Amino acid sequence: MLKSFASEHHFTNKFQNQSDDYKRQYMRLVQVNALFFPLTMMLVGLSVIITIYFGGKQVIAGTFSFGNIAEYVIYVNMLTWPVASLGWVTSIIQRASASQERINHFLEETPENRIGIDSFDFDKAIEFKNVSFSYDNTTVLSNLDFTIEKGQTIGIIGTTGSGKSTLASLLMRLYSPNEGTISIDGNNVNDLSLPAYRSLFGYVPQDIFLFSESIRDNILFGSETEKTESDIESITKLTDVWDDIQGFTNKLDTVLGERGITLSGGQKQRVAIARALIRDPEILILDDSLSAVDTHTERSIKQNLKAFGKNKTVVLISHRVSTVEDADFILVLDEGRIVEQGAPSQLLVQNGLFSEMVKTQNAQNQPVS
Ligand SMILES: Nc1ncnc2c1ncn2[C@@H]1O[C@H](COP(=O)(O)OP(=O)(O)OP(=O)(O)O)[C@@H](O)[C@H]1O
Ligand SMILES: [Mg+2]
Repeated sequence: MLKSFASEHHFTNKFQNQSDDYKRQYMRLVQVNALFFPLTMMLVGLSVIITIYFGGKQVIAGTFSFGNIAEYVIYVNMLTWPVASLGWVTSIIQRASASQERINHFLEETPENRIGIDSFDFDKAIEFKNVSFSYDNTTVLSNLDFTIEKGQTIGIIGTTGSGKSTLASLLMRLYSPNEGTISIDGNNVNDLSLPAYRSLFGYVPQDIFLFSESIRDNILFGSETEKTESDIESITKLTDVWDDIQGFTNKLDTVLGERGITLSGGQKQRVAIARALIRDPEILILDDSLSAVDTHTERSIKQNLKAFGKNKTVVLISHRVSTVEDADFILVLDEGRIVEQGAPSQLLVQNGLFSEMVKTQNAQNQPVS
């Protein structure tokens, strides 16, 4: 980013200023420390001298014995360390309170309620009833009503910022709706055990994160059961990334990210889909996960997905019509509302937002002559 925006100079200055500021403040701390410790030692020495001076006078006057002075000096020495450490501990407490503030952020976080019904079925459908959701104060989704039947392929399409990814998060229970209910075969999902519920899903988020580990480890990341080489091979073939992987010197053991090679956007997406599929999920959610592959590859992956699971439920999120056109059922979102829903053929004849999107996107795809 620095190089491409040619902002090396600006950020060097910024860094320089902050470092200077840090240095100034730290030097002040060092100065106080440098003053504090010799001062305490001097005061200790001074108190011994004072004791001996006044004690000596008393001894000369005959009201005090030598032993009394020695006793006093020992007492003063015994007090030195506790008093000095009082100052020292105070400064440590001040520094610790800054760190404690950050630790408190974690401690005050309320954990998700993970406990609930462990055994439940998904044989029929997931139902959204009048679901609304807002982050902070802005309403992002309002009054969603729809049903995802088991085994269907659902397309969710809509303009950017219309709430598609938020809808996927609600479905995965990464957030809970503010109003309305989501139920699976009649059970409110909030009553179900979170790990058990989430194990139904294979999720490919819009912002894919691959670890700086081997491709193999990345694919096996969410998989709890042992997988063989041929499992990995068939899954990566299914997501059309096997040939790409064969092209790398270390094949599946190729390390990604900071410590290794960088995958192209489309390769990343296909590795992430393989990661979701190898769990053999009941419900697969692809959030814009085919956006970086060409339409030809997209079509072949979707064909493979169909063959992969006859009875699997697939949720395809996209703003590209080509991704959702052969879904069984399409939801069209606009500004957090469902403006149309139905089979693609139905929507096409409705002359609504969907058919408009089909027209404009088809026009864009015409070769320029
Ligand atoms: N964590 C968050 N906190 C606050 N607001 C958010 C958060 N995530 C998303 N939003 C807001 O919610 C709205 C919907 O976002 P969302 O990511 O669901 O849209 P989207 O339909 O997936 O868009 P895109 O097609 O660009 O991926 C946006 O206005 C966005 O700014
Ligand atoms: Mg999104």
